[in-house]
Amino acid sequence: MNIHPASRYHDVYARSMQDPEGFWADAARAIDWIEPAKKVFDASQGLYGRWFAGAVVNTCYNALDRHVAGGRADQLALIHDSPLTNSVSRFTYAEMLREVKTFAAILQDFDVAKGDRVVIYMPLVPEAMVAMLACARIGAIHSVVFGGFAAKELATRIDDAKPKLVLSASCGIEPGRIVAYKPLLDDAIKLAAHKPPACIVLQRPQQPCDLIKGRDYDWADLRSAALAANKSADCVPMLATDPLYILYTSGTTGVPKGVVRDNGGHLVAINWSMQNLYGVKPGEVWWCGSDIGWVVGHSYIVYGPLFNGNTSIMYEGKPIGTPDAGAFWRVISQHKAAAFFTAPTAFRAIKKEDPNGEFIRKYDLSHFRTLFLAGERGDPPTIEWAEKQLKVPVIDHWWQTETGWCIAGNPVGLGQLPVKHGSPTVAMPGYRIEVVDESTKPVPAGTMGSIVIKLPLPPGCLPTLWQQDERCKEAYFNEFPGYYKTADAGYIDEDGYVFVMGRTDDIINVAGHRLSTGGMEEILASHPDVAECAVLGIKDPLKGEVPCGFLVLKAGTDKSPAEIEKEVVALVREKLGPVAAFKLAITVARLPKTRSGKILRGTMKKIADGDPWALPATIEDPKALDEITDALKSRA
Ligand code: COA
Ligand code: AMP
Repeated sequence: MNIHPASRYHDVYARSMQDPEGFWADAARAIDWIEPAKKVFDASQGLYGRWFAGAVVNTCYNALDRHVAGGRADQLALIHDSPLTNSVSRFTYAEMLREVKTFAAILQDFDVAKGDRVVIYMPLVPEAMVAMLACARIGAIHSVVFGGFAAKELATRIDDAKPKLVLSASCGIEPGRIVAYKPLLDDAIKLAAHKPPACIVLQRPQQPCDLIKGRDYDWADLRSAALAANKSADCVPMLATDPLYILYTSGTTGVPKGVVRDNGGHLVAINWSMQNLYGVKPGEVWWCGSDIGWVVGHSYIVYGPLFNGNTSIMYEGKPIGTPDAGAFWRVISQHKAAAFFTAPTAFRAIKKEDPNGEFIRKYDLSHFRTLFLAGERGDPPTIEWAEKQLKVPVIDHWWQTETGWCIAGNPVGLGQLPVKHGSPTVAMPGYRIEVVDESTKPVPAGTMGSIVIKLPLPPGCLPTLWQQDERCKEAYFNEFPGYYKTADAGYIDEDGYVFVMGRTDDIINVAGHRLSTGGMEEILASHPDVAECAVLGIKDPLKGEVPCGFLVLKAGTDKSPAEIEKEVVALVREKLGPVAAFKLAITVARLPKTRSGKILRGTMKKIADGDPWALPATIEDPKALDEITDALKSRA
């Protein structure tokens, strides 16, 4: 391995491996604890041990109260910038604390207490951040559901989390269309077996909605009444090991997995990452262009920047079309952002519209130091383009909903390491990353295999799935004993650089959004005329991957294939949501299979992607693959 003396990374990482408890105990000094941990790591608790066992803390206190008390009362905590509503609003730390204390008291009026779940189904508005922090303040466990998911997905999450309260809004805004949230919420509650007793709904002027008497409450009315009555909720002491939130993510079946995040480990790890990985100092402006419905938004729109005393930008807009491909540069320049974090897909969209970077040169980007990319593989051409145009370091980093923060990255705060295009760089402290074969045997450097992480996982990573310890073990810990299975495949080179090449399960990554093809297959199979189906992720120049569904129809249907294809496209949008970007369904006479009946998804994908492929020895009938080639050609 090459050592780069200008970076402290190698010493820091080595210490995290040799003395993990000492390392994380030091990192924990940056957090205000009510009571310190009895044990920094208690190997006897949980599925693989628990961090900061016995410590007592409040996450909201560390995000807001301590900064207000410590001199940041008048510093901006949040800048909400919305080209979709043509508005910018700003909240100082003192103002945000007042909003959160008030809303937390409202939650308590609805009988929400420590350990109760609150589902948040909201667009990217400041109230969503207030809601998350208010839950954290009183120890309620929030579960944010991305606005691009449909009613059925919301219903599944309501049934699993069993919330006492749902927080929503009348609408979200997408370019050229208003997304009415309320009908989706009402449908979800109809579909769900668990009926949340109450909903608080934020009325947005773009499209207000009707409220159901006795169940729905108007956000603004409750807020005014609570302010008039001087209501305010104090921080509730929480165990470090108590859950802070549940975030559902696509699993290998249609039922999403409820990833649990605890309070203490999350605080320590996310806070550590702000200065050491992202290299941002307290007081600076930070922008993460994700959505609070994703883990990236949880960690780096809401929690990380506030733990670190930064000003966080929340952006309700797109990289292009709101109004043009200069939107990102306008935001960075107007609010003087020091660093920005987004997904490569956003850059592919900008590159397509503004290949020569003309918009970039219209703005003063003198405060801007670093661009961070994650959510999908940072493809070298996109990274090279961004480096050339922006003239700042472009840092790819790899992580997952389950880990909550970066697994492999380039720690700018410790001294940047040389960038290798196509690699998110090296393991972050606490992560012992290995690449292994099927029998959990490490493979040599440069050899592809399954990427696994030696247990225990560092602070911040999932302790379990919500009320499903067994499913958690099954999904992550059983296949490679002693390790966490990332379900990503790749290799590590001689310099310790990690290369993450793709998933080993049915997950696909569409415009940085994680989706399960298995879940989509369940929806296609529910169509009365579909006998059999297969959904694959196929290459897309903008979104990285898009789903493509192959259908075999039942004999005797009187509808045409074209009609059924249109219906299944609409069905996925209705059941899963527009975020799936499922637009391509192709009818074929049969699916290519092995002699034992396994669908040859891998070969079908290679054909669809135009990659070289070999005839599998076990194929039942080779002609079935020619039929796939012909069907794809007819759609090209
Ligand atoms: N509520 C409702 N609908 C939503 C939504 C939301 N919050 N977010 C997206 N959608 C809809 C979109 O309107 C679109 O609908 P359409 O099929 O009617 O056009 C569909 O879901 C797909 O959305 P998206 O994948 O975002 O594609 P897009 O064409 O709107 O935009 C990009 C493409 C590249 C600009 C966009 O995907 C992007 O900015 N991605 C960044 C991803 C990201 O930040 N990921 C987080 C990990 S870091
Ligand atoms: P999510 O849980 O939505 O954050 O998606 C996690 C998955 O996205 C990972 O398992 C990877 O497959 C993929 N991913 C995220 N970031 C990267 C990256 N920088 N490089 C390669 N793949 C990535």
